[in-house]
Amino acid sequence: MRRGTALTLALDVAPYALVAVAVFTAAFGAPVLTRLCAVVLATYAGNAVFGECDLASRALGDAPRSAYRGKTVWITGASQGLGEELALHLGSMGAKLILSSRREETLRRVCEAATAAGAEDARALTLDARAGSAAMREKGAAALALARKMAGAGDGIDGTDADVGVDYLFHVAGGSQHAAAEDTADEVDRDMFELNTMSAIALTKALLPSMLARRKGTIVAVGSMAVKCPAPGQATYAATKAALSAFCHSLRGEVADRGVSVTVAHPGPIATGLGGQTRKERRLDATLVAKRIAAGAALGLDEVVLATQPIMLLRNFMQFVPSVGFRVLNKVGPKRTRAARLGVSMYELK
Ligand SMILES: NC(=O)c1ccc[n+]([C@@H]2O[C@H](COP(=O)([O-])OP(=O)(O)OC[C@H]3O[C@@H](n4cnc5c(N)ncnc54)[C@H](OP(=O)(O)O)[C@@H]3O)[C@@H](O)[C@H]2O)c1
Repeated sequence: MRRGTALTLALDVAPYALVAVAVFTAAFGAPVLTRLCAVVLATYAGNAVFGECDLASRALGDAPRSAYRGKTVWITGASQGLGEELALHLGSMGAKLILSSRREETLRRVCEAATAAGAEDARALTLDARAGSAAMREKGAAALALARKMAGAGDGIDGTDADVGVDYLFHVAGGSQHAAAEDTADEVDRDMFELNTMSAIALTKALLPSMLARRKGTIVAVGSMAVKCPAPGQATYAATKAALSAFCHSLRGEVADRGVSVTVAHPGPIATGLGGQTRKERRLDATLVAKRIAAGAALGLDEVVLATQPIMLLRNFMQFVPSVGFRVLNKVGPKRTRAARLGVSMYELK
């Protein structure tokens, strides 16, 4: 069992076991043990109220450098924001990078920066995620050919080559929308699903035969906190990320015994170009998010969940006491939606 999986299991089961032990020791007069259980349970409660990251990610810390050294990593949405941060972070650990988005010049600049940071190699592969599934399959083949070239193996690869391939595929490309569902045109809904969901599914399917043949590979999808907490004013965005998340979790179950792992990250608002940034609004640091996601993927976490407070607290309500979470959203949601209509930040609610 991988380190991340074992740790998550232990952290998930521990509170239930601790409550049982605390009740038992209280009933049978072992106050020291009862107090010990209470202290550990208080740590859980403290993280739920104040923590900005799930406990497993926090406990794991950074990925070991060996996890990415010499590994071929394909990142979509790498020209700016979180994708760029991931490229620089994984580059600094000696990865071989394939960086994708629509803007070639910008990608080349990120390739240079990643190489300067320590990447073994960094190449740009332009891609328009809205171009449809057939185009994504072609890009998958192109990425495999590039991986082979970077390994010095020459051109021509049939997608099932046993020696060379993409070790990590990070789905970062994406876009958001701030609008009430009733104001969102059908074409915008479809466009968002193409960009955030369908393209990632198609790219995953393009690389899967090669990963399964090698019995090696990690697929990482950047979802959103909008999957964990419904997001009034971003209904379509939340739906695209929820669909991607469901696909990834189901896929993990299909390939779990064939060497391929899947990690889904659910960050809350990040200080990148996506969405409005204001003085009052607190967002996650993009470098920290990149590090947490990289570590989660390398150490085998199923999910990485992180957000500033009180968003993380609301997520905990949604997970453990959903009826309270839904009531809070019914109060906050209409204000968020009005803010979306006015084009102001949805995180500063009046
Ligand atoms: N920022 C947040 O608050 C936040 C919170 C939770 C989740 N996320 C998710 O994290 C990911 C990155 O967010 P970010 O804030 O870094 O976004 P960003 O700064 O807007 O960057 C988006 C990236 O996606 C690429 N992209 C956009 N449309 C594309 C297309 N049609 N084809 C190919 N690439 C395309 C862009 O490159 P080009 O323009 O060069 O194509 C860019 O590299 C997204 O999936 C987002 O949903 C963000």
